Amino acid sequence: MKLAICPGSFDPVTYGHLNIITRAASMFDKVVVVVMINGTKQPLFSCEERVDLLKRATAHLPNVEIDFYGGLLADYARERDATVIIKGLRALSDFEYEFQMALTNRKLNPAVETVFLTTNAEYMYLSSSLVKQVAGLGGDIREFVPPCIIQDILQKYGRNETE
Ligand code: PNS
Repeated sequence: MKLAICPGSFDPVTYGHLNIITRAASMFDKVVVVVMINGTKQPLFSCEERVDLLKRATAHLPNVEIDFYGGLLADYARERDATVIIKGLRALSDFEYEFQMALTNRKLNPAVETVFLTTNAEYMYLSSSLVKQVAGLGGDIREFVPPCIIQDILQKYGRNETE
């Protein structure tokens, strides 16, 4: 069975992430989406909450599993016996950081290959930080995230869907 790992902070999951996850799920027997710690970011949602949002947003994808891991991605890949890491690339600005991570992960676990999927043009601008900014300032986030998680995001800012 060919297994791929799709790591990220997913704070929260967006349509951009879901596009990459869906496409990865059509290429591999199984995709494990793993919520991880990005030491440079201060998350809005707890790890448990991010896992829960992802579970709901991917419930229609039978070969996608959601997990959390608090350690190194290279170690997680080893634990799961996975040799492919899938990352989404939005623009050139993502490249340097992703390139650095891919090389570091290969150094730490030579069995692992990072495969980049280019995001759909329609989601090039989209990021979790943008969703949080728009939600926090009273904007409409329906274009950015699936309906099943909208209330969870609005609630973080003391809003609700009926507003
Ligand atoms: O969605 P993000 O924030 O761009 O994802 C980055 C993430 C979480 C995949 C990255 O920070 C990561 O791999 N964290 C786990 C710890 C680790 O392995 N760090 C070394 C990466 S080279």
